[in-house]
Amino acid sequence: MDQQAGPLRQERHGAVLVLVIDAPPVNALGHALRAALWQAIEAAEADATVGAVLIRAAGRTFPAGADISEFGQPPRAPQLPDLCDRIEACPKPVLAAIHGTALGGGLELALAAHARIARADAMLGLPEVTLGILPGAGGTQRVPRLIGAEQALRLMLTGKPVPAAEALALGLLDGVVEDGLEVAALRLAEGLVGRRLTATRDRREGMRDGAAYQTAVAAARLAQAGARLPAGARIVDCVEAAQLLPIEQGMVFERAAFADLVATPEAAGLRHAFFAERAAARFPEAKAEARPVAQLGVIGAAGSDLALLALQAGCPVVLVEPNRPQLVEALERIAAAQETAVQEGRLTPAARDADWERLTPALGAAALADSDLVLVADAGLLAEAAEAAPPGAVLALTGRGALPDSPRASDIIGLRLVGGRLAELAVGPQTAPEAVATARAVARRLGLLCLRAATPGGIAGRVMLAGRAAVTHLLAQGEAPARVAGALRGFGLPQLAPEAAAEASETGASAGRIIARVLSAMANEGARLLERGIAQRASDIDFALVAGLGFPRWQGGPMFWADQRGLLILRRDLAEWGQEAPEIWAMAPLIADLAAQGGHFADHAAQAGSGQKDA
Ligand code: CAA
Repeated sequence: MDQQAGPLRQERHGAVLVLVIDAPPVNALGHALRAALWQAIEAAEADATVGAVLIRAAGRTFPAGADISEFGQPPRAPQLPDLCDRIEACPKPVLAAIHGTALGGGLELALAAHARIARADAMLGLPEVTLGILPGAGGTQRVPRLIGAEQALRLMLTGKPVPAAEALALGLLDGVVEDGLEVAALRLAEGLVGRRLTATRDRREGMRDGAAYQTAVAAARLAQAGARLPAGARIVDCVEAAQLLPIEQGMVFERAAFADLVATPEAAGLRHAFFAERAAARFPEAKAEARPVAQLGVIGAAGSDLALLALQAGCPVVLVEPNRPQLVEALERIAAAQETAVQEGRLTPAARDADWERLTPALGAAALADSDLVLVADAGLLAEAAEAAPPGAVLALTGRGALPDSPRASDIIGLRLVGGRLAELAVGPQTAPEAVATARAVARRLGLLCLRAATPGGIAGRVMLAGRAAVTHLLAQGEAPARVAGALRGFGLPQLAPEAAAEASETGASAGRIIARVLSAMANEGARLLERGIAQRASDIDFALVAGLGFPRWQGGPMFWADQRGLLILRRDLAEWGQEAPEIWAMAPLIADLAAQGGHFADHAAQAGSGQKDA
């Protein structure tokens, strides 16, 4: 009989018990799921009619890891490492069938099973290092036993997932199927009934060449020397321990390293950045239907960087610039960038030639007659673009400032490139939701991350400018440039350091004071953007700074920094410094409000409105 409740379904197929993980969206291994898996394995072990267990997942993916939202909360039994050990200790064969992305704790769960099969398009990886932690459910001990130190360290230190075929070649998988995973896995499980397979902890394939193992550990340790974040070095220690210690002790060693890392401020910052990036994808127009875009128009020579991105993304582009010399210069810039890409091996000459086939340069806006979205890089040419572009075409202004009035206001949006990686979408009160969705779809096609702002936008830039103003003020007050630069480098913000200052980075009391000055100016500006409804939520501001302007990801962002420190402290500092330089530190009323309620920026509810409040 099949049981259907909760995050785990159970199906019986003869002697095979199939456990179907069903915890949308990504089957993360949260407490309820862990408890259900534990119980199911216990029951399977006790049930004489069960001869083998198959673990697979419903929905889009095999578990994508531990539930990151549980980190920082008190651990709840059964913890993932214990669950993995429990599965591995099951005397009946346990098979894992992988599709989608088996990441982090998801892959560790699969490695605790006695055999693994995956669909060819599955990806397997240990991305924990990107969260400032390490595989903490036996991964650092089981993976090197199967595939050796060099490859295990590559997986864990880069955090990059590998395709199923590579995982098979490495020895992480026992089989790969093109499709029909469920059926293939069931057949395999039936064949395993009654057999006793070697547990991963008892396997040694990756440890046969002890000297090579040690060489790989030594090389990785050297490469980690001086690294800013501690996770890499701890991963190397754990992989070394896998060779030196019996597995039980290796597991204890790993668990201690995991506990240390997960509690670091860097890991908290990286978790915040992870969720901030995903929260930024939620905004009022996100579900509107994007209009199809077959051809992209760019008007204004300053848009050549975006034209290049569009060409690289395979999009046909019409580039309009009424001034002939400027048009030629724009084309030269594109050609020069491509030349560099060819020389560096990032672009083949054939791909470059194909890019030029897709590019149509023109002097007159009439050439935009078939463009579905026009990037307006010169606001002075908006009227011409609006006249020439077909009805329904989106007009995306790439410059700063409020969106101008226009009879086509519902088609107009701001799309500003921030630092080459982020597109800030500035939405006006009249911008149609479909125009927002279309601009976002195009930006994504160009390989950009997106952030929605209300017009006039400029979130990342304004906050960074506030930090810069604080630096300028400190220097004018006589603070030593080398000390300011050292503090900023120590924090991870070299881009704000005064030029020509010494290379050292600095920590300690004076650095803390300098950082507090600069970061409180940034958080204060962020609070103003929240008050005006330009930013939807505090984490959007953090995301903009991290994704667009190189704010150190492990520091989370300026709003996260302020929340961690406490808004009462921010309020106290601003009350004092606001007297000294009100244009930088005069307190945004929102801070006083939130502080009075014992609140955080993270509590500030989104202002769902799309209009500018007081721009
Ligand atoms: N825990 C909790 N929530 C998670 C999650 C996780 N591990 N992974 C994804 N989610 C959530 C996201 O926050 C998002 O939620 P909202 O829709 O509410 O915003 C939702 O799942 C969908 O995620 P994405 O938007 O990222 O979806 P995608 O299709 O673009 O990508 C993915 C899917 C590749 C799995 C991607 O989500 C991802 O890389 N996830 C993280 C993987 C990871 O880092 N795993 C390791 C966790 S740490 C660990 O496992 C430690 C250990 O050793 C015990």
